[in-house]
Amino acid sequence: MRAHQQGLMANLLPEVTLDPAALGDNPLALFPQGPKQLRLEVGFGGGEHLAHEAHQNPETAFIGCEPFANGVARLLVDIAAGHLTNIRIYPDDAGAVIAALPDACLAGVDILFPDPWPKRRQKQRRFISDQRLVDLARVMPQGATLRFATDIDDYAAWTLSRIARSPHFTWHAVHADEWRQAWPGWPGTRYEAKARAAGRPAVWLRFIRNDVAAPRQQA
Ligand SMILES: C[S@@+](CC[C@H](N)C(=O)[O-])C[C@H]1O[C@@H](n2cnc3c(N)ncnc32)[C@H](O)[C@@H]1O
Repeated sequence: MRAHQQGLMANLLPEVTLDPAALGDNPLALFPQGPKQLRLEVGFGGGEHLAHEAHQNPETAFIGCEPFANGVARLLVDIAAGHLTNIRIYPDDAGAVIAALPDACLAGVDILFPDPWPKRRQKQRRFISDQRLVDLARVMPQGATLRFATDIDDYAAWTLSRIARSPHFTWHAVHADEWRQAWPGWPGTRYEAKARAAGRPAVWLRFIRNDVAAPRQQA
């Protein structure tokens, strides 16, 4: 980690770190500029996509989760350079944030190139599971978008099969080959570029939260 990044980890990270216990009933209150909606990015890596989205959507607040310290440090560089005040970072497991969020508070969730866990005995560690979809359904209102990208065909099939049996989400595709095309405005990420260079093009999936009730947060 470079000296500049170390300085940002010491000085800027405490300012932008999310405390899940502080989310309360209205997470938007954590953002002083009065954003209109909230989105979550899980496992932002170096933060290229999150910084890009935060820059493009100044009236949206973003929570990004990433336990990898070097990735957090890279995002902090973009936050400082772009004066991005609409990002809060949780430098750990996104599951803890999802569990702490109030019901139906997220307009969108992005899960981009999650760790593939390709071996048979590892697959249960994948971020997407039947229970995770229930947990996400709780924090997403009807019509909210869940975006998922992967370069691992087996992970795409794994996710589609869980979406197909979930009452809470529907795969949304306008064109038959939409899953082959990056979303409009996709800025690229380091991981995606490496996968493409290695001959693994991505699968791009968009799911919409159905009008079906999900379990409510326990008081
Ligand atoms: C393959 S990388 C992709 C990073 C980034 N999305 C990109 O496209 O470059 C997956 C990332 O997810 C992070 N990750 C894994 N499990 C996570 C979890 N439970 N919560 C948040 N991030 C997680 C890892 O640390 C890693 O940086």
